Amino acid sequence: MTEAAAIANANVALAKYWGKRDEALNLPYTGSISINLAGLTTTARVRFTDKRGEDRVIMSGRQVDGLEATRVRKFLDVVRQLAGRNCGAEVEVASNFPVAAGLASSASTFAALAVAATHAAGIILSEQELSRLARRGSGSAARSIHGGYVEWLRGEAADGSDSYAVQLAPPEHWPLGIVAAITDRGRKRVGSREGMAHSLTHSPFFPPWLETHQADLETIRQGILGRDLRATGSAAEHNCLKMHAVALAASPPLLYWNAATLAVMHRVIQLREEGMDAYFTIDAGPQVKVICSLPQREAIAAAIQAVPGVHDVLLSEPGAGARLVEGA
Ligand code: PMV
Repeated sequence: MTEAAAIANANVALAKYWGKRDEALNLPYTGSISINLAGLTTTARVRFTDKRGEDRVIMSGRQVDGLEATRVRKFLDVVRQLAGRNCGAEVEVASNFPVAAGLASSASTFAALAVAATHAAGIILSEQELSRLARRGSGSAARSIHGGYVEWLRGEAADGSDSYAVQLAPPEHWPLGIVAAITDRGRKRVGSREGMAHSLTHSPFFPPWLETHQADLETIRQGILGRDLRATGSAAEHNCLKMHAVALAASPPLLYWNAATLAVMHRVIQLREEGMDAYFTIDAGPQVKVICSLPQREAIAAAIQAVPGVHDVLLSEPGAGARLVEGA
């Protein structure tokens, strides 16, 4: 086959990945745990041509060059090397959620690209191999290969062979609700790659972040397996606030939040005081994701939408892993 299309969902980390021990291979200092987000989907189509030429990269309907295209080309180089092929490619990537809104789309993009590009190149990989490959495009993409609740294992090997994601539980294990609050429609100013590198070298809190991460991973893993929203949510909030504390304490500081981000955090705490089961988490940007019980999702979304500065809310729940689009 020389052409294939695949889809993958974004994911939200409950125990965050923040810091690379190897920049080129996207190897993390710690493990991380996430939920695959149903409905926040990226489609990738890859066609390998006969001639060796520049790859053509189309994102959201327009041809891109510069950094975005270079990232995709470098990723395709890994696939070409695996397949022993040396040909140009045409790539089309489109997400059904607002990419410019700063909701991480690199996870769903590189997970979908891993599945589409390997099939287009005629190589069939296991899910473990696909996760390792997706990781090369973007660390968090390793987790979007799987559906449901997913843990990316840190690994020890210098070549990254043992750093890939595994499914902790399928989506139906625990039907949670997720509400994403969009508080800023612009692109994020400091990307996660830069933010991690800066935190690593300029924050006094980076070593304690590493020292305390394992305990969060264990609490969140057990919380998921035992379907314990309070244990999982509290540990996820704590882990998120620690990640941001690392970034805030860097010199110069990294402040990802805006006024509405903080207002949503306060509203979530207030909703808990009113008896709702809701917990927030925030990645390297101003948007807030709220993890909640599924029956309360609509009421919580309405409360969050009413917070001044919130432009929009997106509703999600645990979704399926990356897969080929049949017949494409
Ligand atoms: O995979 P990247 O480079 O987009 O980094 C993701 C970093 C966070 O979203 C902040 C945390 C995470 O684990 O997803």
